[in-house]
Amino acid sequence: MTNYQRFRKCGRLALLCVLLGTLCKTGCGQIRYSVSEELDKGSFVGNIAKDLGLEPQELAERGVRIVSRGRTQLFALNPRSGSLVTADRIDREEFCAQSPQCLVSFNILVEDKLNIFEVEIEIKDLNDNAPDFLMEELEIKISELTVPGTRFPLKTAFDPDVGTNSLLNYQLSPNDYFSLAVKSVTDGAKYPELVLQRALDREEKKVHQLVLIASDGGDPVQSGNLGIQVTVLDANDNPPVFTQPEYRVSVQENLPVGTRLLTVNATDPDEGFNAQVSYVLDKMPGKIAQIFYLNSVTGDLSILKNLDYEDATFYEIKIEAQDGPGLLSRAKILVTVLDVNDNAPEVTITSLTGSVPEESAAGREIALINVHDRDSGQNGQVTVFVLGNMPFNLEKSINQYYCLVTARSLDREQESEYNITLRATDGGSPPLSTDTHITLHVADINDNPPAFTHASYSAYIPENNPRGTSIFSVTAHDPDSIENAHITYALTEDTIQGAPLSTYISINSDTGVLYALHSFDFEQVRDLKLLVTASDSGNPPLSSNVSLSIFVLDQNDNTPEILYPALPTDGSTGVELAPRSAEPGYLVTKVVAVDRDSGQNAWLSYRLLKASEPGLFAVGLHTGEVRTARALLDRDALKQSLVVAVQDHGQPPLSATVTLTVAVADSIPDVLTDLGSLKPSVDP
Ligand SMILES: *[C@@H]1O[C@H](CO)[C@@H](O)[C@H](O)[C@H]1NC(C)=O
Ligand SMILES: *[C@@H]1O[C@H](CO)[C@@H](O)[C@H](O)[C@H]1NC(C)=O
Ligand SMILES: *[C@@H]1O[C@H](CO)[C@@H](O)[C@H](O)[C@H]1NC(C)=O
Repeated sequence: MTNYQRFRKCGRLALLCVLLGTLCKTGCGQIRYSVSEELDKGSFVGNIAKDLGLEPQELAERGVRIVSRGRTQLFALNPRSGSLVTADRIDREEFCAQSPQCLVSFNILVEDKLNIFEVEIEIKDLNDNAPDFLMEELEIKISELTVPGTRFPLKTAFDPDVGTNSLLNYQLSPNDYFSLAVKSVTDGAKYPELVLQRALDREEKKVHQLVLIASDGGDPVQSGNLGIQVTVLDANDNPPVFTQPEYRVSVQENLPVGTRLLTVNATDPDEGFNAQVSYVLDKMPGKIAQIFYLNSVTGDLSILKNLDYEDATFYEIKIEAQDGPGLLSRAKILVTVLDVNDNAPEVTITSLTGSVPEESAAGREIALINVHDRDSGQNGQVTVFVLGNMPFNLEKSINQYYCLVTARSLDREQESEYNITLRATDGGSPPLSTDTHITLHVADINDNPPAFTHASYSAYIPENNPRGTSIFSVTAHDPDSIENAHITYALTEDTIQGAPLSTYISINSDTGVLYALHSFDFEQVRDLKLLVTASDSGNPPLSSNVSLSIFVLDQNDNTPEILYPALPTDGSTGVELAPRSAEPGYLVTKVVAVDRDSGQNAWLSYRLLKASEPGLFAVGLHTGEVRTARALLDRDALKQSLVVAVQDHGQPPLSATVTLTVAVADSIPDVLTDLGSLKPSVDP
């Protein structure tokens, strides 16, 4: 409307100028039009022919033209319609920028009259520009701790249009955290600001995407958007939090050192350094820190030492998780130690008798022992027994005490020492056991007499032995020990042919060797019966007897003794008689001899050693009989002399001889006449 009125008024003014002719060459000859920008080329601007008071065809005839002053012509004349049209598309902002009014003026020359007119064209703004922030996106970083109400200036948008087509207002995309404030300053410019409405939480929402919309007042409204990315900066507003308030783990006590028991975990929703969690053992009694190691980075709990159920069955470990700046939270780890059968039973000998006397009654106490196992439950249940087949019993006493006693009386001579093995076994799986050795000596009692190796002894001694000869030795053994086994030998006193035995025989009391004190004569004493006593030195001593027979052996120590014919003691001749008529084999006489020895030594044989008439007489080898060997002849001498030897069979043999005189006559008187020289002689 306003444009139109202005146009009308100018139209009238132009008409006036035409009426006044050339008087109004410049000042009054002004023609005003208005045209909207951005019209197509050739769009109608104004009916110039009419405003100049001409017919349209006159424009050409009268040489009407636009006087250009070297500038690009925006307008042109249309000679057919006699109107002014756009020579090109016109952008108001190009010519006038932000000026509220955009006027383009030029002159039109009417050549034939040399009239010049001034034409002023207002280029009217069209809302052809949207507000523009000249950037795509704005990034704002806000700490999550920023208090609500804080303002953050935003970028302003720019709209090259003017008037209502230019910027009017800002709007923010709907969101929960921010609102928009628009500050107006005196020149009318508006500055948008972001206002924090609610506390931010990076852990809840890290990035907020907003859109700032700038819209103008054109019709239609044009708008421009600016993306706003609000990045919430982390503040250490969260402590680390353990995934569990309490961690529980049960472990066997025999885990190797370094084993990981469990891993604790604390999470911190903050970022970076604020979320860098480290784990530490809370201040704990030194012992726990010596046993457990908490890896500050990984949260692995491991052991530095072997756990021992017998030391502690349970640990409560207080731990802390701490983030970089130092916010912390606490939790605890409960470690239950499980028993493993890792302890063998312990056997303690509380009292011990090293020896028991033999023959003491069963039930004799040897040792008091105590068994103990550091494990618990079945692992600590101990049974104890005597290994092997031994004459001992274990009797249970109070409180894991046992009494080791004899099961029967012992015999030192059978077994003088026992190596007793006590085996204590626990109830674990597998069970562990401990062996304890007890050496028990059986003390000697003089319960055994010495025993001779034989029931009786016989000894032989040749007669004529030298004095002091050892004849024999007897030995007795005593299975007891020391003095109870120390044997002395003695002879039981007796008499032999009226003389005390001790004058014949003695015995070495230590060795049992018997000596002859006498040179025995078999012909006097042929045998001796002795009783040898062996006694030990126990208290009281024990002894035993054994009989010993000593036989004297004959030696050939006696020569044969000729009893007949005897040596004449009374002067008689002792002549034997052989009648001339005697038949061969006639028994003349018999030599009789004895030998005091015995056996072979006394077995005699007779031989004719010498004869005055060989072959006339023969002597019986064993009988000693002297017989004629043939018939006597007359030529045989009256007096025959024979030498007979008697010899025993000893080694060497002993012998004796006798000389016999045999008279060959029929009667004694015959003989007597000339037998003066006949005498028997003995030659041993
Ligand atoms: C700790 O716990 C968090 C949450 O449960 C999990 O994502 C993370 O993997 C755990 N860390 C370790 C080391 O187990
Ligand atoms: C007892 O016997 C055990 C096993 O047979 C053996 O190891 C130990 O040396 C013995 N002790 C004695 C004193 O003989
Ligand atoms: C041994 O002989 C002596 C004397 O005859 C006698 O007193 C003693 O009792 C005997 N001893 C034994 C053990 O027979």
